[in-house]
Amino acid sequence: KILILDFGSQVTQLIARRVREAHVYCEIHPCDVSDEFVRGFGAQGVILSGSHMSAYEESTDRAPQAVFELGVPVLGICYGMQTMAQQLGGKVEAGTVREFGYAEVRARSHTKLLDGIEDFRNDQGHGMLKVWMSHGDKVTALPPGFVVMASTDSCPIAGMADEARRFYGVQFHPEVTHTARGADLLRRFVLDVCGCQGDWIMGDYIAEAVERIREQVGDEEVILGLSGGVDSSVAAALIHRAIGDQLTCVFVDHGLLRLNEGQMVMDMFAGRLHARVIHVDAADQFLGHLKGVSDPEAKRKIIGREFVEVFKAEAAKLKAGDGGHKGATFLAQGTIYPDVIESGGAKSKKATTIKSHHNVGGLPEQLGLKLLEPLRELFKDEVRELGVALGLPRDMVYRHPFPGPGLGVRILGEIHAEYADLLRRADAIFIEELRATIDPQTGKSWYDLTSQAFAVFLPVKSVGVMGDGRTYEWVVALRAVQTQDFMTAHWAELPHSLLGRVSNRIINEVRGINRVVYDISGKPPATIEWE
Ligand code: XMP
Repeated sequence: KILILDFGSQVTQLIARRVREAHVYCEIHPCDVSDEFVRGFGAQGVILSGSHMSAYEESTDRAPQAVFELGVPVLGICYGMQTMAQQLGGKVEAGTVREFGYAEVRARSHTKLLDGIEDFRNDQGHGMLKVWMSHGDKVTALPPGFVVMASTDSCPIAGMADEARRFYGVQFHPEVTHTARGADLLRRFVLDVCGCQGDWIMGDYIAEAVERIREQVGDEEVILGLSGGVDSSVAAALIHRAIGDQLTCVFVDHGLLRLNEGQMVMDMFAGRLHARVIHVDAADQFLGHLKGVSDPEAKRKIIGREFVEVFKAEAAKLKAGDGGHKGATFLAQGTIYPDVIESGGAKSKKATTIKSHHNVGGLPEQLGLKLLEPLRELFKDEVRELGVALGLPRDMVYRHPFPGPGLGVRILGEIHAEYADLLRRADAIFIEELRATIDPQTGKSWYDLTSQAFAVFLPVKSVGVMGDGRTYEWVVALRAVQTQDFMTAHWAELPHSLLGRVSNRIINEVRGINRVVYDISGKPPATIEWE
């Protein structure tokens, strides 16, 4: 296994991710762990991360000296390389300019780490790497035993190596995708240099995570708000695997879910996994409070507030305990790593200062519960892989995201139960056709080729003709987008034949809708949701 020591870089988790992708187990620990910890860890190799410190702040963080006395390979990245240089007798000087971004690094001297790893040859026939560089300070004198491994014009020591001791340092960031061969470099380090086996799989992750959850929870009890979304579902399945009936899931149905969604969640968790799930049917309560409200922000606030109220009431019941149960002391959340970054947590290397998940901010404090977040070090695609390994259906795990306020933000203006019913049916037809239509070029379904797709209810009536009669009915808009991060998005160029089929089916099968339109707005300037 690999020990990653974190000096507080925003991208430390990416190092862990690349190591996991090479099928090697790793753990991230703060850079100030003790020498005893380092000696007792049993690492086959150590990686020192970068730091978030800017060029003008001075970091005095050092790696525990024991790292260099273990006799195992060490890779220092960015700040990690600088502290390695300093601790081993080299020299680091403050730079006057901060270099950040794309750079081309020339590979020097033959090293096991970079052997055969290059992007192109320059005019002189030197192997070159395309990398992402970020530094203010730089190494200006090598420690004894080291040679220059890589360089650029502005950074003569952009990489250093002591092959005898198997110590390497790179000033650039191999963990980010902008460094084209970065993943290869990290794989080379953990597999070939450190000699790890590369046989670690998600199944092992489950065993380890289960162990950690059992340790953290002991014989106490946990509640979790199950939404049917990917993250809370995978968290629930994992925690249930670890502690069984010590977990109670609360599934709040606000009446604004997709077609059959409540039934699917109950079938899966209560039916197949035999988890304790409380299904709260709060549709009347939510729709009651939403009556007469048409402002989008007001609707969101009401839905959010009621959700917290319902959940708190259930939690209070559970906290009090019942027959065989003592009452919950933990609140579990499906916080994943991107959520941690978003709430600013990743900037800090002290895990305790990290804020709670933005979606349910403040809930744990209000409820007086401790937090359990078993997915907080995983990226979305790793969460999906974990979900499949836990036996959740692929359809559930690869589902498009669905906003917390649900159909509440897809029914424009005031919400009526009747609108929600029509929308649910139209939406289900759209999704069914997207799943069923395969793009011949990629062999993938249009559901998988889009990042998010749904129908929107427009409370507008237009005239139509059906058979011999005139109709005067509602309009539904279809929305399908392709995006990496949901911050910007392109409208999906769905085949016209697919759009035609969806439109026909909706108008024929959903009485009350006589017109279907397709939304061709990008984000920006439009947003993905209509409200
Ligand atoms: P917009 O509409 O802002 O949406 O382009 C970007 C992404 O965020 C989702 N979204 C939400 N998710 N609660 C959520 O959990 C919300 O209030 C919310 N509003 C938007 C939206 O579905 C899209 O994926």
